Amino acid sequence: MRRTTHRLRTLGTLLLLLAFAASLVPNSLNSTVQTTSAASREPVRARHGVVASINEVASKVGVDIMKRGGNAVDAAIAVAVALAVTHPAAGNLGGGGFMMIRLKDGRTTAIDYREMAPAAAHRNVYLDKDGNVIKGEGGSIEGYRAAGVPGTVRGMELALKKYGSHKLTWAQLVEPARVLAANGIKVTYNLARGLRGNNDYLSKYAETKRIYLNNGNFYNEGDLFRQPDLAATFARLQRGGPNEFYEGQTARMIVDDLKAHNGLITMEDMRGYVAKEREPVRGTYRGYEIVSMPPPSSGGAVLIEMLNILEGYDFKKMDWASSDRYHLMTEAMRRAFADRAEYMGDTDFVKVPIAGLIDKNYAAQLRKSIDPNRASTSEQVKAGKPTGYESDETTHFTVVDAEGNAVANTYTLNNSFGSAAVAKGTGIIMNDEMDDFAAKPGTPNMFGLIQGERNAVAPRKRPLSAMTPTFVLRKNGSLWFTVGSPGGPTIINTVLDVITNVIDYNMNIQQAIDAPRIHHQWLTDELVYEPYGLSGDTQKSLTARGHKLNDKQRYLGDCEGIMIEEKTGFRLGAVDPRRSDGPAGGY
Ligand code: DON
Repeated sequence: MRRTTHRLRTLGTLLLLLAFAASLVPNSLNSTVQTTSAASREPVRARHGVVASINEVASKVGVDIMKRGGNAVDAAIAVAVALAVTHPAAGNLGGGGFMMIRLKDGRTTAIDYREMAPAAAHRNVYLDKDGNVIKGEGGSIEGYRAAGVPGTVRGMELALKKYGSHKLTWAQLVEPARVLAANGIKVTYNLARGLRGNNDYLSKYAETKRIYLNNGNFYNEGDLFRQPDLAATFARLQRGGPNEFYEGQTARMIVDDLKAHNGLITMEDMRGYVAKEREPVRGTYRGYEIVSMPPPSSGGAVLIEMLNILEGYDFKKMDWASSDRYHLMTEAMRRAFADRAEYMGDTDFVKVPIAGLIDKNYAAQLRKSIDPNRASTSEQVKAGKPTGYESDETTHFTVVDAEGNAVANTYTLNNSFGSAAVAKGTGIIMNDEMDDFAAKPGTPNMFGLIQGERNAVAPRKRPLSAMTPTFVLRKNGSLWFTVGSPGGPTIINTVLDVITNVIDYNMNIQQAIDAPRIHHQWLTDELVYEPYGLSGDTQKSLTARGHKLNDKQRYLGDCEGIMIEEKTGFRLGAVDPRRSDGPAGGY
């Protein structure tokens, strides 16, 4: 934390300078000139292909796949399975997520491989006999009962079949991960810190403890960490293909162990899992097209709703670090998150007024309720009335290949190390994604999010997500940049921050990611900021307007992004200094 704090302090100061320097650039130039001098290092520049992920080894796996003729989708699949080895807190086989794909010809699609609730799950499955939310083992967060049916393997299968280059096989794409698991990886500072930080959690279950503790001791930075069970699982997946995970020995191992521990998932649930292709949600911000994840993620719609609100303000006239900007950002966040709580859920099950939520006229209505000088209270701000209304762990990575195909993938086990339950003998940590449902509508979940009836638990339903893998296009329709992040509800605001940093403040992708962030999620009514992210004067000014500040002393998000340099076509890969353990990979 001290390292991060120091970095953020330096960043904070330098970004004030950056904002000042940017304010000297005439507005007419602002839209075309990329700021080149700033607090950040340069992003990784690659002529052909680039991978930006939290982990350098996994990024290199993706680069290698592209060098061997694979496209961005092939590379993304190899990175996803490699991260299950190198970044076990979030990289996974036992979880799920979303993959946005934009092909070189401009076609864009969204692959939904979010976990599905097991058939035995029902509205009150996580309530005790008195109707209270069950805490600890047996609830929606901890242990075997918290897991939804994992979607990652089916998601990768769908992406490969429809959008892979077909130059490399499934088994070839899984091979680097198998080798990493079998031969072992060198424990990075981040991995050692994550294992230590989650020691109590990882020690709850014997199988998990056996894998993630080194004979009862901690793994230290530099140690070799081998995962032979996981390697054997990869080998089975190579031999039997993705079906093996859902119908073969791996499925049986997962189901048997979960059954022995009061889990919900059956063989029928495994066989019944489906990954789905969905139409991305689209909006514009100051003329730039935003293409993002639709339900069961709330990310894309909430992001576009906030951008629509903010479009009505001239940020070019406001300092980046000013309380004016923070105030407006917060008010936009407050309103969009209130709508999220009320309206959003899995559209396979409930009606969500997406078109109304992302409508510019609706944003204009909401803007009228914002006082430029005074914070609203979240008590006053209830969900609005969009048209059509009828009644610490995830990981994001992104790839752009030499041809211009792009992938933005966010996937997760939910909590850091998911439910902390490893299915015996598989090396697979199971997710606790069931906590993303409203276990009891109106009662906060792990992230303090209040969620409504539309996100109540039901068999085969997908829990509402905040994951926001996003593409931003130039005005000529070509890909400008890709972005996404972990961080539960902070994800959407992290993506919002980065997009406005680039579009309104001319930051390059690295500067936009490095800049300190803020977060507001309607309830709890508090403006969260990163340590040293707001100057004392700004804090005073925001407090005077009525904002309730909360310095939780932690960073927000872990954003990875790629920008295409307009003049040269170079791919600029940027990883987040908050969490990543090495630069992006490129060639
Ligand atoms: O899908 C979601 O919104 C959450 N399961 C994401 C969890 C998360 O990002 C935790 N990371 N820090």
